[in-house]
Amino acid sequence: MQIQYQFRKNDEYFTPSYAVYPIMKRLKAGATVWCPFDKKESEYVRLLSRHGFTVVYGHIQTGQDFFNTAVPDCDYIVSNPPYSLKSEVIKRLYEIGKPFAMLVNFQGIFDSRERFRMFKENRVEMLWLSPRVNYLTGNGELPQRAPFQSGYLCSGICESQLEFEYLDIQS
Ligand SMILES: C[S@@+](CC[C@H](N)C(=O)[O-])C[C@H]1O[C@@H](n2cnc3c(N)ncnc32)[C@H](O)[C@@H]1O
Repeated sequence: MQIQYQFRKNDEYFTPSYAVYPIMKRLKAGATVWCPFDKKESEYVRLLSRHGFTVVYGHIQTGQDFFNTAVPDCDYIVSNPPYSLKSEVIKRLYEIGKPFAMLVNFQGIFDSRERFRMFKENRVEMLWLSPRVNYLTGNGELPQRAPFQSGYLCSGICESQLEFEYLDIQS
């Protein structure tokens, strides 16, 4: 898929550690996880590595474009993707065909006709989180009070298609 990368400020929000735990506990111990929107300081990379997973990671700014990178040998694909490319990311994930979990804004997730079609034709699971995830800006500012409800959009990871998890924001 040929997608021209454009820097967008709204894509540059980062996941706090407490939002990684609910998905980490659903992965098989010792598995290999590809984090395709992450640099080494990402909480996905840091926590998954610290908990015994093998982590392969990459980011557009270090030369790994998710849409044009060979898929590494991995058991899962897990991350928080650029919001502006939500549909394109989901499309590529289904094409790749590996179990995935993406932390996304759930508001309006079924509004797009293309996404609706993909969810109707493929396995989809939603892991709802409470309270809302407040994302980090990456420049040391206090976490942003998110104006939307986010959760993990998954395929092949959750037992049920609808699951719920409380966040421990101290973790
Ligand atoms: C919402 S941020 C989340 C970053 C990190 N995954 C986290 O959770 O802290 C998404 C990141 O993906 C990067 N990105 C945008 N397009 C990309 C692409 N085509 N391939 C890889 N990374 C991309 C953005 O620059 C941004 O830093």
